[in-house]
Amino acid sequence: MSQSQLDQIKSNALKAFTSAQNSQELYNFKVQFLGKSGALTEAMKLMATLPKEEKPAFGKLVNEVKVELEAAYEKAESALKNKEIDAKMLEEKLDLSFAVSSQEQGKEHPIHKVTNEIFSIMARLGYSLRTGPLIEKDYYNFEALNIPPNHPARDMQDTFFVDDTHVLRTHTSPIQIHSLESEKLPLRIIGTGPVFRVDSDISHLPNFHQIEGMCVDSQVSMSDLKGTISFFVKEFFGPGLKTRFRPSFFPFTEPSAEVDCSCPICKSKGCSLCKQTGWIEIGGCGLINPKVFEHAKVEYPKWQGFAFGFGVERMAIIKYGVDDIRHFPANDVRFLKQF
Ligand code: DAH
Repeated sequence: MSQSQLDQIKSNALKAFTSAQNSQELYNFKVQFLGKSGALTEAMKLMATLPKEEKPAFGKLVNEVKVELEAAYEKAESALKNKEIDAKMLEEKLDLSFAVSSQEQGKEHPIHKVTNEIFSIMARLGYSLRTGPLIEKDYYNFEALNIPPNHPARDMQDTFFVDDTHVLRTHTSPIQIHSLESEKLPLRIIGTGPVFRVDSDISHLPNFHQIEGMCVDSQVSMSDLKGTISFFVKEFFGPGLKTRFRPSFFPFTEPSAEVDCSCPICKSKGCSLCKQTGWIEIGGCGLINPKVFEHAKVEYPKWQGFAFGFGVERMAIIKYGVDDIRHFPANDVRFLKQF
């Protein structure tokens, strides 16, 4: 083994290292030149055949070549790794302009959509939005609304009790009391949110949504109430719809009425949704009972008012012709996509 042979090995190795196209190829070259049976190791082995006096100088030379080739290998390896990372990043780059199929886009839930529509109609009449606690004191859910303990009117709303003095609110009417207690009059508010009742079938959910309206002013009559609700129903369901008020009873209103609208599905001819009557009930209303004002420490008849409460799911069912109320919380995309 001569120095020129060693030089040849060195220049072949350097050429190979810089020409390698990927890490695997480079590694193969490393094995070929620096590995256990690689060219340089073979050169070391040949040292044994050299005359004694030449051995140290040749050994030193081989070592120098080895160090140089190892450094060259490391440099080539890090250059290739960087190149490979760059290529990978380029390949995996996110194309933010890529069009996503509309099926994968989120949509407003129909209950939110209907609630927002109701707000925007009522906002045009000067009503502003309120919410209230979902766990209510018995006092706000019942007593302040003129439903005393043990009064049979409590049976109208099957209640989830949290403890002896707290319930999951059974309606949004307690929002009326919170506003009357804390706000300046006159007042026009619209309250909303989930309410809870022990009830579950094709047309009842244990957890549904209500919209509560309240107007308090110096002179408020039943005709103000009828005008407001008729306007609201026409705006929400469409101009062809009629509204009907049936005398009813609620402890917190006097007089009280139930509100029906003409069935938009069959145009009042009679169908399964309106149970062949041509009319669908959407909620209750009435003039605020002076007893309620008394509880909230509002002076009556200086201040008078009307209130109404509608079921949001019910309004959505009527507007969109949904056949089962349980579709709303099921969150099946095939159902939600239709709105
Ligand atoms: N809170 C009643 C219920 O859930 C609905 C209702 C009736 C609300 C008459 C009112 C009202 O504000 O005036 O059954």
